Amino acid sequence: MARIKPQALLLQSKRKKGPTRIGASTIVLCNLVVALIVLSIMATYRHWYKRSMDQTEDGKSTFEGTDVRTLVDLKKYDLPGYAILNTSKGYITIELYKESSPEIVDRFLDLCQKGYFKGMPFNHVIKNYVIQGGEYQGLGAAEELISHAKLHLQLGTSPKHEAFMLGTSKIRLDSKGFDLFITTAPIPDMNDKLTVFGRVIKGEDVVQEIEEVDTDEHYRPKSSVGIINVALKREV
Ligand SMILES: *[C@@H]1O[C@H](CO)[C@@H](O)[C@H](O)[C@H]1NC(C)=O
Repeated sequence: MARIKPQALLLQSKRKKGPTRIGASTIVLCNLVVALIVLSIMATYRHWYKRSMDQTEDGKSTFEGTDVRTLVDLKKYDLPGYAILNTSKGYITIELYKESSPEIVDRFLDLCQKGYFKGMPFNHVIKNYVIQGGEYQGLGAAEELISHAKLHLQLGTSPKHEAFMLGTSKIRLDSKGFDLFITTAPIPDMNDKLTVFGRVIKGEDVVQEIEEVDTDEHYRPKSSVGIINVALKREV
């Protein structure tokens, strides 16, 4: 190897470490790294922001994607679709509207499993109108419902028993209870008070028997009548 003079060596090293050559590529590289970091921070922020928005919207995370949706469908399919109310007058079989009122049916099933309806009395029995189990949870007072009923009865709407819908009060947000209504006549304007989530498919005669009990002027049964227990079934 040829001997390099110290002068040349100095020049060479100066050229290698030259600020202009290294500078150009380093700046490009640095810019790329910074851009990547900024982009990933933005993406992460967006992701978490969206998640927290979803969580505040309905109180729990929402999931997207077909896999989860299929699971939810399977779960819904798997839920019992029928409830058999064992009442002091006999059995009433209810078909639950799993598809059209999934949230209410979920809550109803949950409460059934907790034994919530065991021993629940029918507190209002309004002939040709409705029987109501449990403490009235609805918006407005029970008296309002009763005056509604009186008006309905005065109008002489068909007393034919073709309704037999199962519903619950549209409730206040702080309400923890769950009342039950079984309509005993077609009540066209009931939808603003009740959410219907099922219908009687067997035991209409039992409902009618409950309707026949003696009541006081507040439509409260004079002798107690109520639900003994509820059995859930997938098929009937
Ligand atoms: C329904 O209630 C009656 C009266 O308490 C009870 O004897 C019967 O075992 C109950 N049926 C079911 C299926 O729980």
